[in-house]
Amino acid sequence: MADATGFDLKGSAPERYEHYVAPLMAPFVTALVDAVDLYPGATVLDLACGTGFAARAAAAQAGPTGRVAGADLNEGMLKVAVARHPRLYPDIEFTAAPADDLPYPDATFDAVLCQQGAQFFPDLDAALRETARVTRPGGRFAATVWSHLDDSPYFVAQLRAVERYGTPEAAEFFRTAFTAAGRLTATLARSGFHDVADRELTFAITLPPLEDYIPGHLSAIPWGQTITESAGEHVLTQAADTIRTALPAGTTTFPFSATLVTAARRPR
Ligand SMILES: C[S@@+](CC[C@H](N)C(=O)[O-])C[C@H]1O[C@@H](n2cnc3c(N)ncnc32)[C@H](O)[C@@H]1O
Repeated sequence: MADATGFDLKGSAPERYEHYVAPLMAPFVTALVDAVDLYPGATVLDLACGTGFAARAAAAQAGPTGRVAGADLNEGMLKVAVARHPRLYPDIEFTAAPADDLPYPDATFDAVLCQQGAQFFPDLDAALRETARVTRPGGRFAATVWSHLDDSPYFVAQLRAVERYGTPEAAEFFRTAFTAAGRLTATLARSGFHDVADRELTFAITLPPLEDYIPGHLSAIPWGQTITESAGEHVLTQAADTIRTALPAGTTTFPFSATLVTAARRPR
């Protein structure tokens, strides 16, 4: 977790992120995109787009006359996003940029989406002021952030493994990633947005067989990367076993909770 965002995936981790994180994100991406009421011809930004889950879902709705952009700091994530782009119309423009310094003119976008990114912005105020700048007056904003760690047993088990096998800093960073919703709503309200609202989303998600899924997922996120860097590959396997034994036996279906935060750009 060397970079300022705390979400710096190296080597082939972005490919594994795309593969292993997809099932966790899928129902939340649908809810996120639904929240901004896209239409054919809409211009949409996926902020902190990672490998592009939300950008792809938005492009399917914006259609051939729309425009979809994805911005992220991590070049490795963007490389996977470009490779996985299914040649939908419109083409998605993926750009390396920090959330607080976006390469778009004022009032470019009808909607800005941010799926599980805002909790990592080092300066949330600056990022949301910049988001407001590139959103047209009346344009829509929607973000999801994980919430209520205790409502997501899979993440509770993952945290226990990071506490046991990772560094104290990694465990602390993991915990704070689940506390962003309140900061996000408060910051939006002072950054050029109004009608700020939030609601909890909980989905029961069926994961692939856990023997492969748990170590694969752990190796695709910064907390797992920290375990490998500080203790080695074999300890990652032990950490994965810890997660598996902490979960209820006989099922691969677990609840996951996130907060969906929505807002509209204030008229000038
Ligand atoms: C948990 S991933 C989410 C990625 C993607 N939105 C998704 O739905 O899978 C967090 C992403 O936020 C990006 N990120 C973190 N801080 C950022 C910043 N200040 N500006 C732009 N991207 C940032 C990371 O590079 C990473 O791709």
